[in-house]
Amino acid sequence: MPMYRARIAGTGSYLPEKVLTNFDIEKLVDTTDQWIRERTGIERRHIAADGEFTSDLAFQATKKALLAAKMNADEIEFIILATVTPDQPMPNTACILQTKLGLAGIPAIDVSAACSGFIYALSIADQFIRTGMYKNILVVGAETIHPFVNYKDREICILFGDAAGAFIVSRAAPDDPNTIYSTHLRAEGSLGDLFVLAGGGCRHPINQESIEQGHGYMKMKGREIFKNAVRTMSSACQLALETNKVGIDQVDWLVPHQANWRIMEAVANHFNFPKEKVVSVVHEMGNTSAATVPVAFDMAVKDGRIQRGQTILLTAFGAGLTSGSALLRY
Ligand code: UT7
Repeated sequence: MPMYRARIAGTGSYLPEKVLTNFDIEKLVDTTDQWIRERTGIERRHIAADGEFTSDLAFQATKKALLAAKMNADEIEFIILATVTPDQPMPNTACILQTKLGLAGIPAIDVSAACSGFIYALSIADQFIRTGMYKNILVVGAETIHPFVNYKDREICILFGDAAGAFIVSRAAPDDPNTIYSTHLRAEGSLGDLFVLAGGGCRHPINQESIEQGHGYMKMKGREIFKNAVRTMSSACQLALETNKVGIDQVDWLVPHQANWRIMEAVANHFNFPKEKVVSVVHEMGNTSAATVPVAFDMAVKDGRIQRGQTILLTAFGAGLTSGSALLRY
């Protein structure tokens, strides 16, 4: 069976218009702009409008990715959408996106791996390209998190925002050096209690009791998450480098999950990697879960930092605990 390689044909991202600044949050909880900036690097986050949902954010990001790839929507053969904040539990958000794109018939799935979701989705796309099953796959990370944020919990509400990012992942020509080299995925379910959104599943279905118990909001052990984020992203990056026999000095850009600048800085320090080569847009959008990696990547493409032919290391970490990495030449 022939083995093909995948390339990133185009990227796009979308941040909703409405902005929630640190100063806005000062009015909601006992915190300060200075504390938030110093401890996280976040200055503002974007919040979806009333009536604007995850599939809408995904649609906007997809349109831009298609434009960048110079491709029509009907060339997409498979939609993989990473989210933990779907429009609804059923049907999945990828199917809703399919309809918005005017497509019918092609498979469409949601991937649930929290903030690592996009790396998981990218890895799935990479496998389908490698086997030759599909030539063009839409991979999206999209989240509308704000309905699950308790704006009375100062550890949570300072961090999260809404966004979407999309990659068109396509079969590379045999002589194209710009391909995905490898992806690595990992999960540690025993650490699942560190970051939970319990409501809405069969264990805590939506009812008065579960709402009163606060199961509709995310709950997090921030300090523990921080330590595990640094540990798992560092080891996922190490694995990517070792597998491909690529030195960290050959990496042009590190695009980590944008949760907290201090986490990204600690991962860079682990490798003695220059901080100027870490793509960070966390100041602009906070933590947008599965959307952070494709949005950060796309913003760096659009502002000219990421160029064709460069070696890029992506890594993410999230509830689960899930983690992963992808090493590619863009
Ligand atoms: O995608 C993964 C999602 N989650 C994450 O990435 C979260 C990872 N964790 C973090 O980013 C950080 O742990 C936080 C930003 C959540 C907290 O920062 P920290 O430097 O780890 O603070 P801490 O938990 O060690 O708390 C230090 C102090 C505490 O006060 P005391 O006990 O020292 O008096 C907290 O109560 O800071 C206090 N604190 C705050 N103060 C002002 C916690 N949150 C706030 C706040 N404003 N928003």
